[in-house]
Amino acid sequence: MRQLFVAGNWKMRLNGRQSIRLAGRLRERVGDVTDVRLAVCPPFVYLKSVAELLSECSIDVGAQNMHAEEAGAFTGEVAGPMLLDVGCRYVILGHSERRHVFGETDEFINQKVLKALSLGLEPIVCGGETLSQREAVQTESVVSDQLKSGLAGVTAEQMAKVTIAYEPVWAIGTGRTATPQQAEDVHALLRALLTEMYGADVSADTVIQYGGSVKPENAAELMAMPNVDGALVGGASLEAASFEGIIRAAQSARK
Ligand code: 13P
Repeated sequence: MRQLFVAGNWKMRLNGRQSIRLAGRLRERVGDVTDVRLAVCPPFVYLKSVAELLSECSIDVGAQNMHAEEAGAFTGEVAGPMLLDVGCRYVILGHSERRHVFGETDEFINQKVLKALSLGLEPIVCGGETLSQREAVQTESVVSDQLKSGLAGVTAEQMAKVTIAYEPVWAIGTGRTATPQQAEDVHALLRALLTEMYGADVSADTVIQYGGSVKPENAAELMAMPNVDGALVGGASLEAASFEGIIRAAQSARK
């Protein structure tokens, strides 16, 4: 059965001193939590120091992106083996900011997912509809297409290392959270699709996080929904107290 998973996506927000301070506080407050899976995803340049600081505790480290190639002439990019080298377990792939700000395609994201898995990194594969897509009643087709193309070529066995994150674009950084029912509807749809693709057992074991303005105040009701298995948290992961609040909510929502 799946364990709830709460991950903090620090985006391009904290400097080195702030990153270390936050990681230290999290280690003190939640470094012994084992009934919920935990990760933080700092900017590339702070991964190594944060991973070292958290190495003896239960908080894992992930990167926010990676390139699909293992090495080569890709100025400015970071490869999967480098992430492993600095202590990453996870990598966020297909985040809406990568899709919409940097123009990443489903195909490119899929190449990264396959590469991450082949290297032993555990991808958090993101998707979600924009406001105009939701208003045009395209949510179902958008998230279904993103899931199918993101996981193309991923085997049932590899799915044990994959986390899915549903992040409606209109809820990211806007303070406008999906209602628990809105989240549940999409999560249930994704779960049904995973059942079609991989069978009931793999589907039941796959963690589907919700992301988009998750805070301590709304985390419990979101994670109380049967198919919401944790959170991918942006803004509220930048303060130890609020990230801890979300983790405590996950502990009490444990299914
Ligand atoms: P916020 O929690 O700031 O809305 O960001 C969500 C997100 O994009 C996490 O990946």
